[in-house]
Amino acid sequence: MPEMIINGLAVNFRSGETVLQAALAGGIHIPALCHHPGLGHFGSCRLCLVEILAGGRPGLAASCSLPASEDLVVETGTERVVRARRVVLGLLLARCPDAKPLLELAENLGAVKFTPRPGDPGCILCGRCVRACRAVGANVIGFAWRGRDRRVAVPFDQPPADCLGCRACEQVCPVNVIKVVEDRGRIRIFPWQSEIEMAYCRNCGAAIGPGVQAGRLQKRFPVEGPLSGLCPACRRRFQAALAGGLVIQPT
Ligand code: FES
Repeated sequence: MPEMIINGLAVNFRSGETVLQAALAGGIHIPALCHHPGLGHFGSCRLCLVEILAGGRPGLAASCSLPASEDLVVETGTERVVRARRVVLGLLLARCPDAKPLLELAENLGAVKFTPRPGDPGCILCGRCVRACRAVGANVIGFAWRGRDRRVAVPFDQPPADCLGCRACEQVCPVNVIKVVEDRGRIRIFPWQSEIEMAYCRNCGAAIGPGVQAGRLQKRFPVEGPLSGLCPACRRRFQAALAGGLVIQPT
């Protein structure tokens, strides 16, 4: 396997991997916010900066979008890197001053200065929710506007009718600004204002998941007869009973 040098250590990498992936696989920590292993790199937060010493254009580069190569020599904690990271983190904290993960990073890094921007929605624009919604949801979240006004939004700022309620956006948000509230058989996702009815097992009454998603699954992988409308546990029980020729007794 080819090797590159990170912090003076030889680190293996696979073809096509980035410096961040090689470092993480080699047990070297580099802070990263917009990168997600399941969503790939986006290069927006700039927190994953490293300093290139040889094998590339000398200077700072975002390790999440820097291809690993055999002649590359990088350092992850030089004075220059730390100074740049402090500035980057200060800018992120100005947008999102209450985000615990950012405050923890600032504590580790030390000397991070920031002034909260009044009226900011508290999002660092990492795009993880947008990419997750595109990958596993219904592609209802996107970036709107530009420059200072750039934000993540839903079409026409209206509750998106197509939202599946899959909660992928909530799962991947690194600063926990997406909130899901379960209330009287519905889930509400903020800030999108999505409202989705839950589907319940017709036997035990346990929540199966968001109704739209359950409906789509049923359409794609139809389950008919006595096994339809059941939660996984009841379905297994009913299946076992049917295989054994027993009469199914609802709980
Ligand atoms: S993780 Fe590299 S720029 Fe955000």
